[in-house]
Amino acid sequence: MVDVPTWHRCIQDKLEQKAIDVLRSGRFVMGSEVASFEQEVADFLGSKYAISCASGTDALILSLHGAGIGPGDEVLTTGYTFFATVEAILQVGAVPVLVDIDAETFNIDPAKLERSITSRSRAVLAVHLFGLPAPIGQLQSICDRHGLTLLEDCAQSFGATCQARKTGNHGHLGAFSFFPSKNLGGFGDGGLVVTHDPEAAKTVKMLRNHGSTEQYHHQCKGYNSRLDELQAGLLRIKLEHIEAFNAERRQIAQWYRELLHNSIVICPEDDQEHVYHQFTVVLPSQRDMVKKRLIAKGITCAVYYPVPLNKQQALAGLVNECKLPVCEWISQHCLSLPIYPGMTREQVETVVHALVEEMYLLGGTHRHSTLHDDSLC
Ligand SMILES: Cc1ncc(COP(=O)(O)O)c(C=O)c1O
Repeated sequence: MVDVPTWHRCIQDKLEQKAIDVLRSGRFVMGSEVASFEQEVADFLGSKYAISCASGTDALILSLHGAGIGPGDEVLTTGYTFFATVEAILQVGAVPVLVDIDAETFNIDPAKLERSITSRSRAVLAVHLFGLPAPIGQLQSICDRHGLTLLEDCAQSFGATCQARKTGNHGHLGAFSFFPSKNLGGFGDGGLVVTHDPEAAKTVKMLRNHGSTEQYHHQCKGYNSRLDELQAGLLRIKLEHIEAFNAERRQIAQWYRELLHNSIVICPEDDQEHVYHQFTVVLPSQRDMVKKRLIAKGITCAVYYPVPLNKQQALAGLVNECKLPVCEWISQHCLSLPIYPGMTREQVETVVHALVEEMYLLGGTHRHSTLHDDSLC
């Protein structure tokens, strides 16, 4: 889905030089690259504290601990996200409560969320899916009304804004992933927790390093979850370019929007800035066949996600018994198309042409109602 060499072309020399510098430094864990990265990423996101860790999954687990979530607490979240969101809730001993999504945005539906609150509810874990901010204003009002903590899974939304503030800064804590395909993708696993709360920051910092603030003195049981120097050094270079990379993703999405018509559904509100981690369309029919035929033509595309969380085998008996009709419908009809910095308009046209052709041949739609630009057919 992502052409990494194309994406990194403009910074490849700097990345290679940084890798050499770190290798020669002899310092690989908790050194100056990590300290500088944490400062720079906090400045970029507008967060008071930024604490790096080993993965986005760990960032979620550390955030839940930082918010004091533990055994028996119910955490409400979307039924349509990567498994790690719910896995993290289970890892801290809490109970995930899955909520259905809005068919237009793929993000959690605030009205359905409010109806799922019980006396055991402690927190809402909002996921900014595919780079589009969740309806954070409405989620915050619900949390305020019911005394719940708002947390954010920003794994897919690095740099996205909502109400003029970057995602991660709306809730008590925000968790990011630097998995290579993410908007700020590293060169292996990595993650980050942000917060404005000094106590939560202290807890997260201690937990990521074996529950310790001073070497060989341990205040509590923690984790070995540190970002390494090489990742931090390389991420610092990518961070310098993230605004440009996200702007490119928006331009590519704009081309897709221009060329496609009926099948696009994700539509940001005026006060939200999407960062298009994915560009996802909804096909009325024959999704799996269209996907297969696109791949046969050399066009990569993928289904995020084919199984909603209420249908995941691993979660049977661990999450609330629920019906999530919108999640289930979307999981059967969505298709994510390639999007990455460096992708050209010509490549977008090739993808759209092939997509529309397959949909037409399979009888899913009429091409004239799907394309603005008939010359592509
Ligand atoms: C929404 C979401 N949450 C959490 C994660 C977990 O991040 P990581 O793979 O860095 O552990 C991911 C990554 O795929 C994700 O997409």
